[in-house]
Amino acid sequence: MLELHDVSRQFGGLAALSGVNMLVPRGRVVGLIGPNGAGKTTLINLISGLDHPTGGTITLGGTPIHGLPPHQIARRGIARTYQNIRMFADLTALENLLVAQHAQGKASALEALIFAPRYRSEEKALRDHARHLLERFHLADKADQRAGNLPYGDQRRLEIARALATRPALMLLDEPTAGMNPIETEELGEQILRLREDGITVLVIEHDMALIAQVCQEVYVLNFGQIIAHGTHEAIKANPLVVQAYLGEEEEETGGAA
Ligand SMILES: Nc1ncnc2c1ncn2[C@@H]1O[C@H](COP(=O)(O)OP(=O)(O)OP(=O)(O)O)[C@@H](O)[C@H]1O
Ligand SMILES: [Mg+2]
Repeated sequence: MLELHDVSRQFGGLAALSGVNMLVPRGRVVGLIGPNGAGKTTLINLISGLDHPTGGTITLGGTPIHGLPPHQIARRGIARTYQNIRMFADLTALENLLVAQHAQGKASALEALIFAPRYRSEEKALRDHARHLLERFHLADKADQRAGNLPYGDQRRLEIARALATRPALMLLDEPTAGMNPIETEELGEQILRLREDGITVLVIEHDMALIAQVCQEVYVLNFGQIIAHGTHEAIKANPLVVQAYLGEEEEETGGAA
């Protein structure tokens, strides 16, 4: 459903992405891994319209979407979460979901005035759906707490619930388990598999290899802005290019001792 062809993003002299080709087939959970600074978040920014490629094409169901603003891409059924959680910290958990839905709402302000009954019934349906999502993500008892006051793991799940509130066809998750403990991580893996059962296509950036193995049917590996490998989790793990990319990262972190 989503196709990237020869996609590049140049920041001045830095090629954050170059010549990226990627296919995310409908109904799949596709992983995107790579060392820090490889360009993973940049790629999701390009798909979601937060940023635009300096070269190449991005198509959704055959229609080009690169260059469209984020709200238009959202209307086409793409939702995302952020590596650094972005929510309305002062709104409650429930209100955050309602705001997300309204950004997608079918009744315009004018319609709301003219067709008040229809608007009211839509309003009720949205509220019911939002409460249902809070339940699904074990947040029902926290509906009226300010999002900014929730524990970190709850905020991460609320972010996914919020993305889901827009009823997307494709979800882009940027390190959804960052900061979670192993139990929370595994439970989130089950939530991701449930998205797939609901027919939602998922592209997930993760550092946690156990989660990648748990949820992904195929994995792309980015290194210095280029795709260096693509295949099943097992094939990726055994790929010398991938092993080398991650070893290089460890050497840098330990001061390049050799
Ligand atoms: N707006 C920007 N301006 C300039 N350089 C940028 C910008 N955004 C990202 N970069 C650079 O592009 C490269 C890729 O960054 P990106 O955030 O996509 O990496 P990442 O794979 O998501 O890393 P991490 O695992 O740390 O989240 C980095 O070198 C980063 O410094
Ligand atoms: Mg990132």
